[in-house]
Amino acid sequence: MAEDLIIHKGTKAEQYASLIPQIAGLIEGEQDLVANLANVAAALKGQFGWWWVGFYLVKNDELVLGPFQGPVACTRIQKGKGVCGTAWAQAQTTIVPDVDQFPGHIACSSASKSEIVVPVIREGNVVAVLDVDSEHLDYFDTTDQKYLEQIVSLIPFS
Ligand code: SME
Repeated sequence: MAEDLIIHKGTKAEQYASLIPQIAGLIEGEQDLVANLANVAAALKGQFGWWWVGFYLVKNDELVLGPFQGPVACTRIQKGKGVCGTAWAQAQTTIVPDVDQFPGHIACSSASKSEIVVPVIREGNVVAVLDVDSEHLDYFDTTDQKYLEQIVSLIPFS
């Protein structure tokens, strides 16, 4: 049975450092992808309170909405489109300080001001992306990149 998340405050790095072992514990022994993605999204939302956090899964050469926390979102994104499709096409984490300045940004919600998208790469292929939106400008930085990349590396994809 899952226990309540323990939320530590502090610097971003301290918050991730407290959260990551808890995420590892949630995932440990569970192979079901939807269950794990749902709990990772909930743990990140619980710790950081972000506007939107969730996954898009690569299915038949497009991104399809997966488990998330936040308002309703667009369900399908093509490769190279928006921030998510760009991170997928480049197989690289993409940080957008101001979504209005990103050509082709897909606005699922007008409240979203900045965004980070982290691709999940297995055997050289992008299998999903983790997308996080903030209602604050310029929220995400390389600290988020480092720890979010670590978090997605923990998730077993089969
Ligand atoms: N803004 C994203 C679309 C997904 S939503 O933010 C949840 C994009 O440009 O790819």
